[in-house]
Amino acid sequence: MFDKEVITNVKIRGQTVLVRVDYNVPIKDGVITDDLRIRASFPTLELLAKKGARRIVLISHLGRPEGKKVKELSLKPVADRLKELLPDKKVFFVGDVSGPDVEDAVEALPVGGILLLENLRFFPGEEKDSPEFAKEIVDATHADIFVQDGFAVVHRAHASTDAITKELPSVAGLLLEKEVTSLNKISESPAHPFVVIIGGAKVEDKQPLIDKFGRIADKIVVGGKISADGYTSPLDSVYVVEDFSDATKSDSGPISTAKIIDFVKNAKTVLWNGLLGKAEEPEYATSSTALAECLGELKNVTSIICGGDTSGFVENLQKEHKDLHYSLVSTGGGAALELLCGNDMPGIDALDDKA
Ligand code: 3PG
Repeated sequence: MFDKEVITNVKIRGQTVLVRVDYNVPIKDGVITDDLRIRASFPTLELLAKKGARRIVLISHLGRPEGKKVKELSLKPVADRLKELLPDKKVFFVGDVSGPDVEDAVEALPVGGILLLENLRFFPGEEKDSPEFAKEIVDATHADIFVQDGFAVVHRAHASTDAITKELPSVAGLLLEKEVTSLNKISESPAHPFVVIIGGAKVEDKQPLIDKFGRIADKIVVGGKISADGYTSPLDSVYVVEDFSDATKSDSGPISTAKIIDFVKNAKTVLWNGLLGKAEEPEYATSSTALAECLGELKNVTSIICGGDTSGFVENLQKEHKDLHYSLVSTGGGAALELLCGNDMPGIDALDDKA
């Protein structure tokens, strides 16, 4: 199911551990509006601390600055949020990824301390998968081992997902292991009835998913803007949302919503990717809310939520309704889609195989 080495099985005590996380979080006016990806890294950070890591150095990208320093895309606000969320840990930030400032910051880290480096994509070497760039990071941090836990970025062949694995022993973190195991399981051996719900705006992004699951799932629901734009399918298993709550077709209507709820209630596995309407506007969130509540209340069903908007939506709802539970709220947008469609995942392939 997951054939890469994981932190659980390797020596960590006394080591400097370099962890690739995906802290590419939405930031509006300097404020982080969704910290799912930050909190999702905590099981790995906690296990590393428990296993006696001497220092933890975190690397991530934020946005797409294309090799240039863009003030608004600094990871500093993320370090501040980390400090708030982990008050019992010593968290530091340094505004570079290699060179003397990083060396000094690593040297000064107290035992068990966490250091977040600046946005990797401020440097052209990151997206070029440059071996030199990767080596500079390893040299400055004096890392002994590399941990890949940025599930949302492992579909990219970048220096921090690929080249860096040639420099150090490289293993998976707990988030990566959990995401890949859960998503592979529903692709390879889902419990039936298996219902896939696909929404969102761009049909070209979602068609590969419909093609992939058209033959595996018992029912595929197509909603959101894709259905409002008149999507049709020759497959018997596909149900396209048939009514809308208003003339702008911004939310699925009551007939379709009732049918979707019925499919879900009778399912053993549900995969949901893409909202059923323009749910970022509360007046168009009725069908997505009904689905999220129904799915979150069901027992004995494997429920996988993926796609940035859908995961964020469900997470927000869970803040109000603490009893809603899902098997996996994925942190991966593009990465989850690529993995589900069976495409290459360079950041996973590059890791050490299980011993
Ligand atoms: C994401 O948000 O999907 C990941 O962080 C990857 O970002 P990217 O699409 O800019 O590579």
